[in-house]
Amino acid sequence: MATNSSLIIDNIGSLITNDPALGAGPLGIITNAAVVITNGVVEAVCPSDTGADTRIDADGACVLPGFVDSHTHLVFAGDRSEEFTARMAGRPYDGGGIRVTTDATRNTPTAELDRLVRQRLLEAHHAGTTTIEIKSGYGLNVADEARSLDIASTYTPETTFLGAHLLPAEYGGRADDYIDLVCNDMLTAAAPNARWIDAFCETGAFDADQCRAVLEAGKKAGLGLRLHGNQLGTGPGVQLAVECGCASVDHCTHLTDDDIEALANSDTVATFLPAADFSTRQPYPDARRLIDAGASVAIASNCNPGSSYTTSISFCIALAVREMHMTIDEAVQAVTLGGAAALHRTDIGRLTPGSAGHATILDAPTHHHLAYRPGVPLIRQTIGPLGTLATTLGGPWERGLVERATGIQSGDPPGRDAST
Ligand code: NIG
Repeated sequence: MATNSSLIIDNIGSLITNDPALGAGPLGIITNAAVVITNGVVEAVCPSDTGADTRIDADGACVLPGFVDSHTHLVFAGDRSEEFTARMAGRPYDGGGIRVTTDATRNTPTAELDRLVRQRLLEAHHAGTTTIEIKSGYGLNVADEARSLDIASTYTPETTFLGAHLLPAEYGGRADDYIDLVCNDMLTAAAPNARWIDAFCETGAFDADQCRAVLEAGKKAGLGLRLHGNQLGTGPGVQLAVECGCASVDHCTHLTDDDIEALANSDTVATFLPAADFSTRQPYPDARRLIDAGASVAIASNCNPGSSYTTSISFCIALAVREMHMTIDEAVQAVTLGGAAALHRTDIGRLTPGSAGHATILDAPTHHHLAYRPGVPLIRQTIGPLGTLATTLGGPWERGLVERATGIQSGDPPGRDAST
C-alpha cells in the first residue's frame, strides 16, 4: 500500500512519546505538539505548525503510540457464547472448550477463516492496535496448524506456533505422542510462517517437561520462545519460561513469591491478560508486587473465543488500573512499550524519531480518559499498517467498520488515505 511521503499530525494537546528524554514524566509527554511521519517512520516530534504534504488536525486531542497487542488467538471459527453464559452461571473455565473451537476451525474453508481473521484485525485496528501477534492453536494437526499460520503470516510478522495448546481428542491418553508430533512434523510445517513458538503450561494442558521439549525444539528451529503460564493456578510455567529465556510468559494470574523473584531477575516480560481474568471470573494478577519488584510487564487482549473475546486494549487498560492497581501511566506503557518488549521490538510502542509511525488519536485530551471513561469508544483514528485491510473486505457490515476505522469511504481508491 502506498504511504504518503510526509504526514503531520499537529495541534496535539498531549503527545505520548514513551521517551522521558523528550517530554514530561515516564511517558515523555509533550503538550501542544506535532508528529511528522515520513514514509511510515517518525521523522520528528516538534511544536505544532510544521509543514508537511498531508495534515491531520488532532484538535487538541491526545496522541499516543499505536497499541502493541502481543497476545491473540485470532485464527478460529465458531462461537462459544454458550460456554461463556454457562460460566457466568457458575461453571468454571478449564480450557476444555479449545477442542470445540478446534473442531469448528478444522471444518471451516480457508477463505472463510481468512475473512474471519481480517474482520477481527479490522476491529482491533479500529480499537487502536497497530501491531498484533497472532497464534495458531486451533488446528492441532499438521495441516490445520500450518494453514492457520499461513493465514496469520499474511497480516503480521508476529506469528506464533501454538501446536501445544491442548491435547486434541484423537490423541486422548497419548500426550507424549502428540508432543512428539508437535516437536517434529508439525513444527517443520509451521516454522516457515512462524516467528515464535508457545505452549500452554497448565494442569489439564501440558506439563513442564512437555512444554520444555516444545520450547527446545522451537529454539532449534530458530523460533523465539513464549509461554502460557500460571493462568488457572500456580505451577511451573513462570519458572520454566525464565529458565528457557522466553521473551514473555503470559497470564501470570497466580504467582508465588519465587515466581515474582524469578521474573524480577530476568529479561522475561510478564504479560497480563486481564480481559481473560474478567471473562473467566479469575482473580487478577498482583501487578503491583511484580512491578514494584522490578519485573517488566506488558498487557495484551488475548483475543480468543473462549477466555477473552475482545480486541479492546482500552478495556484492558481500564481493568488493569481499576482491578490490578496499576497507574494509568503504567497501563498505557504496558500496552505500548511493554508489548513491544514482549515481542523483542524496539521500533514500535513509541513515537520518537526513527520509530514506526504508528499512532492512535483519541477522542479525549489525555490518556487518563482510557481508564476514566471505561467502555467508551475513544479511538478517533488509528494510523498504522492494519488499516490496509480496509481494501480487502466486502460486506456492508465490514465496510462500516472500515470506514469508522480508517476514514476511507466506500468507493475511495485503495491507498488514498494517510491513515492507512
Ligand atoms: O490464553 N489458555 C489458553 N489459551 C487461551 C484460551 C483458549 C480458549 O479457551 O479457547 C488463553 O486464555
